[in-house]
Amino acid sequence: MIVLAIGATGSIGRHVVAEALAAGHTVRALVRDRARADFPASVDVVVGDVTNPETVAAAVHGVDAVVFTHGSDGGGKVGSRTVDYGAVRNVLAALDRPVRIALMTAIGVTNRMGAYNQSTESHDWKRRAERLVRASGHEYTIVRPGWFDDNAADQLRLVFQQGDSQGGTSSSPADGVISRRQIAQVLVSSLTSESARHKTLELVAETGTAQTDLEPLFAALEADPAGSLDGGADVDNQPLAEEPESVRADLVAIRQP
Ligand SMILES: NC(=O)c1ccc[n+]([C@@H]2O[C@H](COP(=O)([O-])OP(=O)(O)OC[C@H]3O[C@@H](n4cnc5c(N)ncnc54)[C@H](OP(=O)(O)O)[C@@H]3O)[C@@H](O)[C@H]2O)c1
Repeated sequence: MIVLAIGATGSIGRHVVAEALAAGHTVRALVRDRARADFPASVDVVVGDVTNPETVAAAVHGVDAVVFTHGSDGGGKVGSRTVDYGAVRNVLAALDRPVRIALMTAIGVTNRMGAYNQSTESHDWKRRAERLVRASGHEYTIVRPGWFDDNAADQLRLVFQQGDSQGGTSSSPADGVISRRQIAQVLVSSLTSESARHKTLELVAETGTAQTDLEPLFAALEADPAGSLDGGADVDNQPLAEEPESVRADLVAIRQP
């Protein structure tokens, strides 16, 4: 596959580039700053900004898969809307053929009342990005990781959860923890897994050794209900009718491959 990494210079994106290369894919990286793109020479670096539809269009041409691990990093409500959500909207709008998508959001994305979401709207906009992906018609897997690299050295046994209820309420590592490398491994593995299609999962690790075969983990998950904007077991607390008009318009306009 030709895999486009969005957020390739980020803390997870760098692992995505490495995992995708190791899996034998050809990697294209969309980066803002070429000087930060210290990847192996085989990586096709495209300079652009996810908030600029023109540069996004140049990056998506000819790709077979897209892995999103971007983030606005303290950009507040504007960053959540223009980067966390805007990247997904702009990439989906630019795609001109069916691709496989792996989207990273966050554990707790359905928790709207916590102080973090109240101040940044990060969860709300990431969930809107999830909804665009589900509505887009592309094959996808949505991964909601726990707290990055807060795992102990012996916490490597991957656990896939659904419904966003076991974690995601404390806004602390008590929600669940996972290594950055394993997040990238799950995202990249999902691209070629039949069992991972149309599935949404929270990703954490518990005490134990890492599994070598992820297929049984993907296969045990429920697929998102056909036509639903949310994961099957997600709490229904962000009704479409109360969403901003621009978000509802994006859902209508999203291009079907
Ligand atoms: N920390 C946790 O435990 C945790 C848990 C779950 C989810 N998350 C979420 O994970 C996301 C990523 O976190 P991270 O720590 O990996 O962040 P990061 O290291 O700051 O990576 C973010 C990536 O997005 C890129 N980016 C930002 N704005 C962009 C733009 N306008 N155009 C193109 N690329 C852009 C950055 O590019 P540059 O290199 O140019 O800045 C960088 O490559 C965050 O949204 C966070 O909410 C975090």
